[in-house]
Amino acid sequence: MSSARPTVPVISSTAVFKEDIFKNKVLFCTGGGSGICKVMTEAVMRHGAQATIVGRNAERLEQAAKELSAATGRTCLAAPADVRQPKALHAAVQKTIDAFGRIDFVICGAAGNFLAPISGLSENAFRTVIEIDALGTYNTIKATLPHVRATRGAYVHVSATLHWRATPWQAHVSAAKAAVDATSAVLAVEEGPHGVRSNVLAPGPIGNTEGMRRLSPATKGGAADVWPTPLGRMGDAQDVANAAVWLFSDAANMVSGQRFAVDGASEHVRGIA
Ligand code: HXC
Repeated sequence: MSSARPTVPVISSTAVFKEDIFKNKVLFCTGGGSGICKVMTEAVMRHGAQATIVGRNAERLEQAAKELSAATGRTCLAAPADVRQPKALHAAVQKTIDAFGRIDFVICGAAGNFLAPISGLSENAFRTVIEIDALGTYNTIKATLPHVRATRGAYVHVSATLHWRATPWQAHVSAAKAAVDATSAVLAVEEGPHGVRSNVLAPGPIGNTEGMRRLSPATKGGAADVWPTPLGRMGDAQDVANAAVWLFSDAANMVSGQRFAVDGASEHVRGIA
């Protein structure tokens, strides 16, 4: 694919959706201290929501919360917690309720990844990624669900496309993300009668992220044009954020139990290009 080809632009969700669609709403986001989930949090806040971000690195989390508050004019709380620790997650949820009184939206985004073949993967390495991604998602759902039921809110789970086909050196992440997808679908079916929706976003190659730095060390994570897709450019974290804004919005009222790739259709041509 030629780099001279026109590509789709990266835009802000505020160019499409009204700025007050999430007024009085509250977002709880795991993994929100950095990367794609931080950009997702900023986008939701730009439409009026307050937010709590959860992560393991307290210092980085505090800094991110300050940046998100300053960028959006809304309040972002930092609640340090490891998603593998249910007690810490419950404390983060309680901090959110004490400050804001409600939770409408949840992004389950905390994840871990590294490249390793099954032959080089220890039991603890496999378990660690399963615990962060899959068990962490379950723990986050359990801690937030009573509050999300109360607001008839919605979940967005950040997954991947790696497990849609067999991706070498990604058995641990593939198993974990398959569990995330399945958990989201069951949540949608069980909680639909309570007005709760649950969907999965599956980012493809997204430039300048920790995930890409780990998965594509040769390109150092990839500038926007390093990894061409049928739409002519690599994904941007803002593309994933825009999809989350749509999924949380009333425009997606009847959308639940689904998974959406944000990858410029690259999954369909993986291995062909
Ligand atoms: C083989 C490895 C390894 C590697 C760690 N391990 N890195 N094995 N190859 N490169 C093994 C360790 O040796 C250990 O096993 C076990 O994994 C646990 O490692 P710890 O360092 O003790 O775990 P912990 O401190 O909890 O760290 C978790 C982590 C780490 C996943 C290993 O990388 C992390 O914190 N990652 C968070 C940030 C991150 O990964 N971001 C990218 C997410 S992107 P032994 O047997 O020695 O005890 C993403 C999206 C995917 O997930 C899709 C993208 C398209």
